[in-house]
Amino acid sequence: MTPISIIAAVADNNAIGRNGQLLCRLPNDMKRFKELTTGHSVIMGHRTYESLPKGALPGRKNIVLTSQSDIHYVGCTVCNSLASALAANGDGGEVFIIGGAGVYGQALEAADKMYLTRIRHAFADADTFFPVIDFSRWEETEWQEFPTDDRHDYPYTFLTYIRRKE
Ligand SMILES: NC(=O)c1ccc[n+]([C@@H]2O[C@H](COP(=O)([O-])OP(=O)(O)OC[C@H]3O[C@@H](n4cnc5c(N)ncnc54)[C@H](OP(=O)(O)O)[C@@H]3O)[C@@H](O)[C@H]2O)c1
Repeated sequence: MTPISIIAAVADNNAIGRNGQLLCRLPNDMKRFKELTTGHSVIMGHRTYESLPKGALPGRKNIVLTSQSDIHYVGCTVCNSLASALAANGDGGEVFIIGGAGVYGQALEAADKMYLTRIRHAFADADTFFPVIDFSRWEETEWQEFPTDDRHDYPYTFLTYIRRKE
């Protein structure tokens, strides 16, 4: 079975976005995201695709979900269901669910792994939120904490979880 991984940057109040954009710029999170996802398929909702500053992410198979028909996004495979998006990965190995909110929610039950960046701030003006996670069903396998610095306005923690066998 192809491993399904969720990857997200989630604030202390579970926020992930505001006005169609990310909450803040964390260059080290971007670096981790690129390192983990390059060479793999990434599945995203069409609003997340539209938030990407340069369109399709290079070095990855970009799979965009929308219910609209006859729509094309440059450099992307367009799918109308999560099942067809996962099938479009073929035998491409680990597939990454990269948001947004509804897509994370749909993929949660099927996901094997979560790569989270916890942003240590509560963004009061956020409008998009990560689903509530029952962490008792997940085992933490990585925990790395970072302070603010001249390129990062908020402390943040890299966390990795694998689903516990039931
Ligand atoms: N912090 C993070 O890690 C992170 C990651 C990703 C995104 N974000 C943020 O989240 C926000 C965007 O996320 P969002 O939740 O608003 O939107 P989204 O999930 O990116 O896109 C939602 C759209 O995806 C399509 N879709 C979703 N599931 C589908 C399915 N099963 N079948 C067919 N189409 C499906 C629908 O498009 P149609 O309406 O066309 O049918 C739906 O309206 C932005 O602010 C972005 O910056 C943050």
